[in-house]
Amino acid sequence: MPKVVFVSKDGTRQEVEAATGASVLSVARAGGVRLAGACMGALVCGGCRVEVDPAWKERVPPPETQEAAALEAAWDATPDSRLACALKVTEALDGLVVHLPG
Ligand code: FES
Repeated sequence: MPKVVFVSKDGTRQEVEAATGASVLSVARAGGVRLAGACMGALVCGGCRVEVDPAWKERVPPPETQEAAALEAAWDATPDSRLACALKVTEALDGLVVHLPG
């Protein structure tokens, strides 16, 4: 079963097992990781934004159109930003590291 590693601003790491196909947001919630997401995956609130660790940047597939548009609209998004509700866990992403917002 793949795992996702969530890193808090203070450097605390939390590893959570994930079902293949689950969103990173649902993995966070299942693991008790605090991550906003008021729109529950509708790609409008931006509250679930995470930063993909640089070591994983090349392995994570690019955002699809709607997610990319939502990220473009966010004034403080970076090239490593992703919406956790849209980012799906795959076997290839086993061990994915994402950084949580402050
Ligand atoms: S939950 Fe709102 S954009 Fe992801």
